[in-house]
Amino acid sequence: MKDLTPAKADLDPIETASRDEIEALQLERLKWSLRHAYDNVPMYRQRFDEKGVHPDDLKSLADLSKFPFTVKNDLRDNYPFGLFAVPREQIIRIHASSGTTGKATVVGYTRKDIDVFADMVARSLRASGVRSGEMVHNAYGYGLFTGGLGAHYGIERLGATVVPVSGGMTPRQVTLIDDFKPHAIMVTPSYMLNILEQFHKQGLDPRESSLQVGIFGAEPWTNAMRLEVQEAFDMHAVDIYGLSEIMGPGVANECVETKDGLHVWEDHFYPEIIDPETGKPVADGEMGELVFTTLTKEGMPMVRYRTRDLTRLLPGTARSMRRMEKITGRSDDMIILRGVNVFPTQVEEQLLATGGLAPHFQIELYQAGRMDAMRVHVEATPDAADEASKTAAAQMLSKRIKDIVGVSTEIMVAEPGGAVRSEGKAKRVVDNRPKER
Ligand code: DLL
Repeated sequence: MKDLTPAKADLDPIETASRDEIEALQLERLKWSLRHAYDNVPMYRQRFDEKGVHPDDLKSLADLSKFPFTVKNDLRDNYPFGLFAVPREQIIRIHASSGTTGKATVVGYTRKDIDVFADMVARSLRASGVRSGEMVHNAYGYGLFTGGLGAHYGIERLGATVVPVSGGMTPRQVTLIDDFKPHAIMVTPSYMLNILEQFHKQGLDPRESSLQVGIFGAEPWTNAMRLEVQEAFDMHAVDIYGLSEIMGPGVANECVETKDGLHVWEDHFYPEIIDPETGKPVADGEMGELVFTTLTKEGMPMVRYRTRDLTRLLPGTARSMRRMEKITGRSDDMIILRGVNVFPTQVEEQLLATGGLAPHFQIELYQAGRMDAMRVHVEATPDAADEASKTAAAQMLSKRIKDIVGVSTEIMVAEPGGAVRSEGKAKRVVDNRPKER
């Protein structure tokens, strides 16, 4: 793999500023953001008043912990535009997440917000090793989802060439990569596996493709998956994180030279980690739920938004800004099986360590008698598709999950091609347990 480390001269000065400079900027911006939310969004004014706090009470960054949290339901309760802090005419773009349950959550951006969004994606691309003048294949979905258009504007902002493919039509994805020869691809990691398979179907060697880096996000993925994809394509694989409520992709990104977790772009997004049970902030280095406050967002400021993503904050390395460790999972996706907490990422790790199985998987929860039980649907690789190999692989994976994760599972090994494929965010858990219990 080629060394893609960006030149220091190409970075924004704040990326390598001292912690004192970063914190001074954060404090100044945080004061503005709390005041902006309080003055312009009725929900924030009411919440702050109920808690007896006022934007003027923020004297230090630590004072932020006195302010109330915001949760996903607050967006639903104020559907569609109730959390906008500017007149609707000043909002130049809307995005929304369809969500699997309930109403969509809607977000809005002013022209300046879209500008910051493009800048942060451009910074993320630079951190990933992409340069101006290169070409980026963008397979994140276009539409209400923030992934496609969010990445698109950032690619243009960097001065790179965007190929706006969106998700789906996998054979065409491969044809376009083969014909256009992009340097980078932006896509969910689960869809990248689907694209990899299509390379083989078309008789193309992925290691011979033009791709030098993949920028993968929108869903949890593991370091084991990184190694798998890097090896398959002979390219770098870096992690991009973000969420619609805070902005979209580009809230945090890994640096290609270190690949040691994602630097949070702390000049625009202030991160905290809290204990999800008590809501109390925990020290850097401790695991908990990630919470963000926007520092510059005009259209829809977010104060202490609970992401439900579990990770921890670590000191900066390639940049001065703090890192967040790769997300373990969302608290919503955590499976509690006979008292043991299980995340799909743990299953992914064990699957990738087991020979004879392809990397596609889905977890099914069901009821066995009075107990909850878990089944993992996987598939054999073409070279290990006979019954004996499938049985051996199933036993091996089941044993690994039992020994390392601590739960008993049934492994269902399908024929090659038999496990579900993703074209965007993979659905990792299907819950077939009776609703009324
Ligand atoms: O998924 C934004 C995005 C698009 C990020 C493209 C990266 C690339 P939402 O649809 O609002 O926004 O979903 C946000 O997705 O709270 C996490 O649970 C999950 N997520 C996003 N990036 C990562 C990642 C976009 N790198 C939710 N690792 C977040 C793990 C991620 N989970």
